[in-house]
Amino acid sequence: MTELVVRRLLIDLETPFARHWCGGDAFRTALFNALSMSFPVGEQFFIDSVRNGFKALPADRQESFKREVQGFVGQEATHRRIHALFNGHLEKQGLVNAWAPRALKRLKLLEGADPRHWLAITAANEHFTAIFAEWMLRNHDWLDGSEARLKTMWLWHSAEESEHKSTAFDLYQALGGSHAWRIIWFRRVTLIFLGDTMRQTVNNLRRDGTLWKWSTWKSAGEYLFGKRGLIRQSYKPWKDYLRRDFHPSQQESDLSQRWLEDNVREFTPVGA
Ligand SMILES: [Fe+2]
Ligand SMILES: [Fe+2]
Repeated sequence: MTELVVRRLLIDLETPFARHWCGGDAFRTALFNALSMSFPVGEQFFIDSVRNGFKALPADRQESFKREVQGFVGQEATHRRIHALFNGHLEKQGLVNAWAPRALKRLKLLEGADPRHWLAITAANEHFTAIFAEWMLRNHDWLDGSEARLKTMWLWHSAEESEHKSTAFDLYQALGGSHAWRIIWFRRVTLIFLGDTMRQTVNNLRRDGTLWKWSTWKSAGEYLFGKRGLIRQSYKPWKDYLRRDFHPSQQESDLSQRWLEDNVREFTPVGA
């Protein structure tokens, strides 16, 4: 079982930030903004799936998951709240969140489905976030030139994603979820997640007036496919999920632990 601490982040999210807050880079800003736009709806869904999965466990198995589920819910609820504040500024900057309403419509189709489907979808998304999180912590210099409070927000979220990456997966297994369905949902989630990320990033760039700038595409190429690029470095960990004996704990999380240890001044533990 993982001991999950809920942390209140001590950063100011009232003060507005620059349009190209991510080191002045239009592409990276648009991509991170897109991801942030998906969080309030996505993370509420993860909370609901983990809660429902927990309730579906036989009473004698619930005890061993209880604290971890509480920690998971607390962490994701904090992420939602912080990103909703962040997204409020994006709205004032004239960006439009088309991802959230689309995701809500899709999630409606899952009402009444077996909790294992919800958990398989959540575990797949959590694998994506965990890969992204470790990659981000490894390449944190991409956030250099951003305001310290924003850099802290992204790295804190990354560290906690890495920390709770096994919760949905373990619940899915505990409920007897099959390998076949885990893979079916992982493939679907991959297409949906990448499609939505791309659409919202393009939407953000268009509204920002930077979609057709050479510098935007140059940055996208380097950031996604360069030597340290997100797609280039994420393919292998993405593929690992397909293995029958895969478990999220097999993937690195040293960087997240270290970040949390080195940055204790940035948060206070809640209810500890
Ligand atoms: Fe999160
Ligand atoms: Fe998460």
